Amino acid sequence: MRLILLTLFTLWSPSTLATPEPPAELSVNEGRINPLGFHDPKPSFSWKLKDPRQGARQTAYQLVVTDTGSEHPETLWDSGKVESARSVYVPYDGPDLSSRQRVAWRVRYWDQDSKESDWSDWAHFELGLLENSDWKGQWIHLPKEGFKAPGEMGNPVVHLRKTFEIEQVPEMARLYLTAKGIVDFRINGQLVTPHAFIPGWTDYTQKIETVTYDVGPLLRQGENVLAARISDGWFAGTISKRFYGQMPELLAQLELKSPEGKVLETIVTDQSWSLTTDGPITMADIWHGEDYDARKELDGWDLPDYQGAEKFKAVAATPLDPKVSLSPKRFQGSRVIETLKPISMRKFEDGKVVYDLGQNMVGWISIKLPARKGQTITIRMAEMLEEDGTLYRGNYRTARSLANYIPAVDGIVEYTQTFTFFGFQYIEISGYDATAEPSLDWVSGQVLHTDFPLTGTFDSSHTKLNKLQSNIVWGQRGNFLDIPTDCPQRNERYGWTGDAQVFSPVSLFNYDTHAFWMSYLESIRQEMKPDGGVPHIIPSNQYRNWINSAGWGDAAFVIPWELYLRTGDLDVLREFYPMMKKRVGYYTAKAKDGIVDEPNSFGDWLQPKSYGTKSIGKDDRSGETSTRILATCYYAYGASLCAKAADALGLESEEEDYRELFDSISKSVSAKFFNPEGEVIEGTATQTAYILPLAFDLLHGDLARKAARNLAERISKDDNLLNSGFIGTAVIIQTLEKYGLRQQARDILFTSEYPSWFYSIDQGATTIWERWNSYTKKDGFGDDSMNSFNHYAYGAVGSFLYERIAGIAPTAEKPGYAEVLVAPILDESFPLDHAEASLDTRYGKASNGWKKTDAAWQMTTVIPPNASGRIVLPFPVEKITVTKGEARFSEVNGESTALVPAGSYQFEISR
Ligand code: BGC
Repeated sequence: MRLILLTLFTLWSPSTLATPEPPAELSVNEGRINPLGFHDPKPSFSWKLKDPRQGARQTAYQLVVTDTGSEHPETLWDSGKVESARSVYVPYDGPDLSSRQRVAWRVRYWDQDSKESDWSDWAHFELGLLENSDWKGQWIHLPKEGFKAPGEMGNPVVHLRKTFEIEQVPEMARLYLTAKGIVDFRINGQLVTPHAFIPGWTDYTQKIETVTYDVGPLLRQGENVLAARISDGWFAGTISKRFYGQMPELLAQLELKSPEGKVLETIVTDQSWSLTTDGPITMADIWHGEDYDARKELDGWDLPDYQGAEKFKAVAATPLDPKVSLSPKRFQGSRVIETLKPISMRKFEDGKVVYDLGQNMVGWISIKLPARKGQTITIRMAEMLEEDGTLYRGNYRTARSLANYIPAVDGIVEYTQTFTFFGFQYIEISGYDATAEPSLDWVSGQVLHTDFPLTGTFDSSHTKLNKLQSNIVWGQRGNFLDIPTDCPQRNERYGWTGDAQVFSPVSLFNYDTHAFWMSYLESIRQEMKPDGGVPHIIPSNQYRNWINSAGWGDAAFVIPWELYLRTGDLDVLREFYPMMKKRVGYYTAKAKDGIVDEPNSFGDWLQPKSYGTKSIGKDDRSGETSTRILATCYYAYGASLCAKAADALGLESEEEDYRELFDSISKSVSAKFFNPEGEVIEGTATQTAYILPLAFDLLHGDLARKAARNLAERISKDDNLLNSGFIGTAVIIQTLEKYGLRQQARDILFTSEYPSWFYSIDQGATTIWERWNSYTKKDGFGDDSMNSFNHYAYGAVGSFLYERIAGIAPTAEKPGYAEVLVAPILDESFPLDHAEASLDTRYGKASNGWKKTDAAWQMTTVIPPNASGRIVLPFPVEKITVTKGEARFSEVNGESTALVPAGSYQFEISR
């Protein structure tokens, strides 16, 4: 009865009717939801308002943070009611948090009518081990004497185990874990590590990441078994030429705790563990694949009462190195996100079967097929097929990239790799039971990548444009495996900084890569030289002193700025502005009269066609653009980004200094590289020689107009096609549009002629290729030595699809989509009838879509709560009708702008 009355009252009461929904999707720092093993003793807090009304916004909030590690949760920080619109990255203002601390927090807010929401649900997080001194164990590994240096390939996987007794199962238990190499871990036979490639790739001489797992439910009374497998991975594998070490090592700490989190017992890696290398994985290596001999399986080795314990020998133990910090991983590891099934198969006369997954992907291959005991099944793969339907593998170069499996029984066997990954679309199987007829369900592809949420979508009426978007997303999936790589398949798979910086903007549309990039930036900072020099590859492993190429090392200022612009997280700049400055300082020290050179640069890497001034073939792929133009433009760009960052951080005088520096470099660029007619007079007048100074706003007024006109002429002489490499192509379309060269932008983007994005699509691309013609139907494969079919750099164009075709972009004034810029191109000459994009921002989902009808452009816009929109339409006001929501446009020079609050809108623009 009381309940009914209460319900009636609730329904009836006018004030509660208008109560805003409590905030939801609470996250800490870089959008992390309820993390375990968190890294930051001073977190920041974000939440989303769930209010679809127009004008929904926050006017005040209250946030409460409590320590849940005692019987009586203790308030660590109560913000009280704070009159503020801020709902993202609110800094914690309580006492510093410490290792293992368990924290709960919740928030409520007051809306635009000063109505107060209910409290949100509690969100939780728990800190990992923040200090090396928290670790009580030692690194354990093969004794030096027993260690046989691996041959060309890799070490066998090491199995390590320890048994221990528990009298009473604890209420709570945590496993803190890391490895030099890659680890997977089981307790009493159950897998603890859902992520692959733990801990991840950092500069292991400075930092090794650690992860935390809740393992309470896996423990039992009596005997328990801790069982780890470790392999070379990036640490001791051929990929780093064993630069960091010769063999893998394990560090683990199991803590049995009371419900309040008090540590009752600690079990660590030490000499009480035992190990064997005589297990089924006889070789594992990132480049070379895996060899698995099922006859050597150690049945029950990870369970109590194991009968084969005598196989396991003593381990060696090494103390922790105080110079190497053990830090909780800032983002999630990699995981199988999707499984691809073959769409077709072909059996060859020799019995080999080749399967086609229909999509170039990165990850593992699962088999489930009939086999003969002792008869090796070989799993090979390729990104492409030769004309005769066999695998094209020349482009893997020296990466062996295959898996061998030796069955222990006759009959159906199942196997998936663990300590390697492959880049492929086709799978070849040989060595199966020849009496069986191959079937499509024998194999599947397990798609692996860093476990971050998909945040963006793009769709349009243009089939190839949609395919381009899909190819970019697949390129991101395949190359965001713990670090951003150039390619995922050949004997490379390195964190090339140039590729990473050009792709960083679009990566932040497709997935929530905020934490991923923070971690990578930390790696860049750790490896930066004292003078601001940056290795081409991060982590640099054996290439420590291969440094400084314009456009590559500049990842040190480009990525922090892009990350800040697209997330609004000021901590990005607080943490990395010093690194940005150091990189600019590197150039300043080199500059003469405002000009710098990096003659040993990669240049505008892979410019497709020669202007005849220099060979751009196999011997030199750096293109014809002057390295002085490239380096000086990046120098200026760095200065302008430092000025913007200083402004965001409130550092006025530094902002002014960098603006002045930028202006003076711009003047040098205008004076030394251009004549008064706006023609490039430095080196070859390539497209990129025009594009970069224009893209980075180094030319002004008349000179800029003339240079843009000359760029247009250059393009027309190039048959209205692009002829830029990695650096120019990343910004060509955006730059043409910015300088009113829309026709050229359209021609270059929508053509199917070589070289172009659609050209590769017509040749069958399902990802972005390293070269536009890595394969052509007419001439077959390009030069094997540089022929990746999954190379995301040219995918940088994707941000143009979101920002200008669909029309969702951030603004530097209110970054992180506090203001959503909605400025789609809406041009009759574009071959599109509709386009739409959506993006999950920290405020909620923003979206924009438009459709062309006979009479009008119809546009639907959603601005998330507590954000605002800036809608810019290239039409006079009288053509625009607002059919949903309230928006007032004002017109300047035929362009109409409306500033709108959160909400859903519809517009009709007469054609
Ligand atoms: C990589 C690139 C990289 C380049 C440097 C290549 O081998 O695959 O993507 O940026 O070297 O020029």
